[in-house]
Order: sequence, then C-alpha cells, then structure tokens
Amino acid sequence: MKMPWKTMLYGGDYNPEQWPREVWDEDMRLFELAHINTPTVGVFAWSRLQPAEDQWEFGWLDDLLDLLQRNKKQVCLGTATAAVPPWMAKRYPDVLRVDFAGRQREFGMRHNFCPNSPSYREFAVGIAGKLAQRYKDYPGLVLWHVSNEYGGECYCPRCATAFRDWLRSRYGSLERVNEVWNTSFWSHVFYDWDEIVPPNLLSEHGDPHNPDQTAFQGLSLDYRRFMSDSLLECYKLERDELKRHTPDVPVTTNFMEVYKPLNYFRWAPQLDVITWDSYPRAGTDPADTAFNHDLMRGLKDGQSFLLLEQTPSQTNWQKYNTLKPQGGMILQSMQAVAHGSDAAMFFQLRRSQAGCEKFHGAVIDHVGHEHTRVFEECRELGKQLEGFGDALLGSRVPAEAGIIFDWENWWALDYSSGPSSDIDYVAEVRRYHKGFYDQNIPVAVTSVLADWSQYKVLVAPLLYMVSEETAAKIREFVAGGGIFLTTYLGGVVDENDRVTLKGYPGELRDVLGIWAEELNVLLPDDHVTFTVSDPSPSIQGRHHGHTVYERVHLEGAEAVASYDNGMFAGTPAVTRNAFGSGQAWYTATSVESGFAAQWVKHAAAEAGLETLGEKQPGVECTMRQSEKGSFLFVLNHNDYPVRVALEQRWSTEMVSQESADGGFTLQPRQAAVFADNGTSTF
Ligand code: GLA
Ligand code: ZN
Repeated sequence: MKMPWKTMLYGGDYNPEQWPREVWDEDMRLFELAHINTPTVGVFAWSRLQPAEDQWEFGWLDDLLDLLQRNKKQVCLGTATAAVPPWMAKRYPDVLRVDFAGRQREFGMRHNFCPNSPSYREFAVGIAGKLAQRYKDYPGLVLWHVSNEYGGECYCPRCATAFRDWLRSRYGSLERVNEVWNTSFWSHVFYDWDEIVPPNLLSEHGDPHNPDQTAFQGLSLDYRRFMSDSLLECYKLERDELKRHTPDVPVTTNFMEVYKPLNYFRWAPQLDVITWDSYPRAGTDPADTAFNHDLMRGLKDGQSFLLLEQTPSQTNWQKYNTLKPQGGMILQSMQAVAHGSDAAMFFQLRRSQAGCEKFHGAVIDHVGHEHTRVFEECRELGKQLEGFGDALLGSRVPAEAGIIFDWENWWALDYSSGPSSDIDYVAEVRRYHKGFYDQNIPVAVTSVLADWSQYKVLVAPLLYMVSEETAAKIREFVAGGGIFLTTYLGGVVDENDRVTLKGYPGELRDVLGIWAEELNVLLPDDHVTFTVSDPSPSIQGRHHGHTVYERVHLEGAEAVASYDNGMFAGTPAVTRNAFGSGQAWYTATSVESGFAAQWVKHAAAEAGLETLGEKQPGVECTMRQSEKGSFLFVLNHNDYPVRVALEQRWSTEMVSQESADGGFTLQPRQAAVFADNGTSTF
C-alpha cells in the first residue's frame, strides 16, 4: 500500500483532552516552532468520546482536528480502545480480564480488556466505526493507530471457551490434541473439550515467581499462540471496520520490540506499516537498539517502518529515569532512520499535569514554553528531518545476511523445564546480530516463514523448534549455496514441542551432518574451552563455551573445533558440513561474542558479503537505498569526536550540507547522512 505522507513523520502522542482549550492554541504555536507535522491524537480518549453507552461527544475532537487542519498538520488518529471507560466495566464486567493468578480484575489501569469479551469487541468496533465515519473525509488523516501496545493475557471463562474453539479448529479432534500434548503423561487424557482449562497459576503453572514453569509445554504454548491470535483478532475487527470507511488510509498498531507474548511475525501481514515504540535505558548498547530496529524492519520483509514513540528526554517507569545525554535523542532518532524508519515520533508532545506519567518527558514541559533544553533539541531534530524532504521515504536497507528470530521457538524454549535455566534465546540471537553489527555488515532479522532468497548467510541461533517445512527450507537454502549456522539444542522438537525420535538435531541431522548424543550443563561460573583445529577458517584460537555443551558425532560433517576439556574433551565443539553447494555449521555450546564475531567475519568473507567500511569503536554505519539513490548513515555513539574515511561517492553530508572529501569528522553523538553522488534530490 502506498503511504500518504510526503515527508518524514514528526510528532507523536498528543493529549489535548487533558488540557483547557486555550492551551491548544499555544500548542499549535509550539508545534510549528518544533517542525512537528503529525500529532497522534485520541489514543486514550475513550471515556471522553463515549461518556455513556449511548452518548457520544465528538465536539472537542472536531474542534481539535479543525485547529490542526488550519495549522496544516497531518493526524495519526487513535481508535482509543486500549483503556475501557469506567461505565463499561461497571455495566459489562465481562470486558475486564482475569489475571494469571485467576483473579477477576476490577476497573483500573489500561490494557485491561479481555480480548474474547463480546462486549469489548462490539464496543471497540463501534467506536472505531464512529470515528472512521465521522472523519473519513478529513484531509489530514494519514494513519490509523488502533488501540495501543496490545499485550497481556486473560484467563476468564470466555477465553477458556474460545481457547477450546481455537484448539478444535487447529487440531480437528480431541484425539489429536491429546496426541500433540502427550497427555498420557501425568494422567491428562481429555475426553471432553470442556475438561481443558487455561494454563495459569491455578492449573499447569505452579510457581508465582517463575511464571514460565509449566507442567505441559504443549498446552501452555498453544495458549500463548491462542492469546496472540485473540488480541490480533481484536485488531483485525477494528482494522476491517476502518477499512470499510477509509480504504486508502493505512492502519497500524504500535509494537514493542521483542515483546514476548505476541508473535509479531504473525501480526505483521495485517498491518499496513509496522510502527513501534523504542525505550532504551541508560547504558543500553546501541547494538541492542539496532537489533530491535532490524527486527521491526524484518517483520514486513524490509519495508520501512515508523518509530511511533520514544521519549524526548526521560521515561517515568524505569527504576532510574535518567535523561538522555545532550544530543542522544537526535542520535537515537537518526539510528531509527538509519535502520529503515520514515518517522521519529514521541511519547509525548505535552507533559501531563497528573497521573503516573507526569514525570515522563515531553517536547513541551510543565513550564509550558519553548525555552527548555529538550524543546531546543526537538526543534533541531524537526529541522533535520524536514531537511530530508522525501529523499529517504520508503527506501530499503539492503542485506545479504539474515538472522532468524522465532517467537514460538522462544516460548517453547522458555516453557521447557531443563536443561538449564540460563539458556537465553534472545541473548543468543542478539550475540550473532552483534557480530554483524560490529563489522558494519548489513543484516536483516527474518522469520522461519520468510523468503530467504536474498540471503547468502543465514544464522538461526538456538533454533530448537523446527517443523518439517522449516527443515526443508533450510535444506534448500544450503543446497543452493547458502552458509547456514545453528547451535546446540537445534532441531530438538517439532512445532508442538514434541521431541524428535530421529536423534538430535532431528530434521536437521542430514543437512548438519551430525548426531548430538547428549548435553551437559555448565554451572554459572563454569566453562569449557575449545580450539579451532581446522586451518582453513579464520576462526583461529581457543574460545570459551558456556551454559551447556553437547557431545556430537560426525556423520559427514568435519570438526572445525574440538573441546579441550570437560566431559567431552576431544570431541567436536564446532562442525561444518558441505551440503549441496553450501555449508551448514553447528556450534555445540553457547559461544562468546568473540567467537560469534569471528564466525561472522569468516562467513562474510566466504560469501563475499558487502561491508560498509572498517569498523571503528562506537561508530555505526548503515545504508538505505531506493530509486532516488543511496544514503550512508554514520553514527558516532561516542562522547568524543571521530574521523571516518569515506569513499569518494559519499560527497555531501545531508544535515550540515558540508562536503566530505574522502573523510569526515563527526562530533560527539553526531549522526551524519551522506547522499551518493548520483542521488537525484541532493
Ligand atoms: C508506551 C505507551 C505510551 C506511554 C509510554 C511511556 O510506549 O504506548 O502510552 O505510556 O509507554 O513511556
Ligand atoms: Zn478473557
């Protein structure tokens, strides 16, 4: 779908319903000063728009939209359905959730609705429809913002019924459910659908301090799938209603990086554009934020996304809500753009006077005027984004390397009891991503479902859950010449968390050319070492393995490295198998970042991957490309200046308009963007 905006989106959550009318005029003046072009309105306004079941109050929103129109602003319009109004909770208590402990929630908080409540769904579609009908011809409407940060779980009786229906349609019969969950274990054979209850603290999960501990992984896994689908259904119902009235306005809902409960790869096809909220903490490694951006871009196979929320200064909900350092907000905004965002939006434009977010940063502070450090920085960012015009819109971030991230795999691993609670899927994935990041090699985050034809190198850390289809895709990828790597515990279970009986790594045994016989666990302070024995790869030296290590037998693969010590001393720690015209690697232990980086370097050299120049500490490089041209982003995350060498084709820096002549000096926390000589608009 073609996006209706012509410049980078700049603005964010704006809650004028919390303020008297005269403040709105002042806001317009301040927005103009800050180059804000797109406020997001209405996100938490349900109780102001619908004060009672049959009563609507759109007058204030009409006035607001008029005012924005007169001030030539575009609008991202919320459907307001993330927090139910008090009257609804009182009159229709089924809209409220039952929590993990089995407690019926009362009115309060937000994100408090049961996704399978018929009343909630009806009211949500109702208000979405009213808004769409009323504002369908409003010229500034560029984006629908459905609900807000969908998430959480419900365990109410309606969800239980809906879960049984969901199971019926997924498995067809109760026999099949019994089979995939292996219910002969612990006397769980179900003879009636109604015997199945949601897995929570009252049923399969016993430990309030370890909510992942479940007696039945298959059941808990399916409940997660079901909950993600239930919330998605709420989104789709509103989306469909909006589309009936405004088919040309893109619809989205805002995501939260690696938010565990929702399988964003399943959600992504239902969104016209991916939008997300980035809240790094003080000390967050910029590589981690880069991973989040790469994941969000990967959700729709490389389509540009929108950074819909970030704080201009500080949050209120962290333990220590430090300010971003001077220049840090602009740098983080540019990092989003560097990874594929066509926006840099805030939560929030004006700081609330009361409520739990009163200490959350905003463009306009409590003092109400523009003479603040934060406002000044926001104004500067607005000017810079405006300066890009339409040059970057829709451009892509070409990558020949991919990292697989799989939500269901993550759920299944964490629900598994044993072998070690230190196994950390996300950390393992991030470690390999950082290997690429640290060498300026563009990398995409992708899914098991995606098309991998653009990749020459594919890394699937801890891909424990492998369906027959995924195994076939991996085999095809390697046979066709790709370089593939997976790790310990790879291929151990199928999509229902049933362990392979074909010998680990199950479906991947032939392509990897190994059999992993057994796994030993390392205590937190323990490690094994392994030494690369193969002279050809550049992964030389001795390395550490942590958490677990496996005894692997070669079945066609070669041992690239063997353990120096531990119970499996002398056996392979890293293997490589030639398969078709490609190669498949396996690391039998959790390697440190040093090894991951060396492996990436080796694979990149073998595959001939493009790099964006020599890596300097704390300096990040990315590239975006479109038919308009190529754009090189160089981000200095250091608090000292750096000089970078540049190819001659990167001659103009777009923000400062300074020319680069084979090199450029970046100030502390400066983001520089270079347009290729051939770029038409610059
Ligand atoms: C989330 C929400 C916003 C706001 C911010 C505060 O991202 O979507 O409504 O609460 O957090 O950081
Ligand atoms: Zn429910």
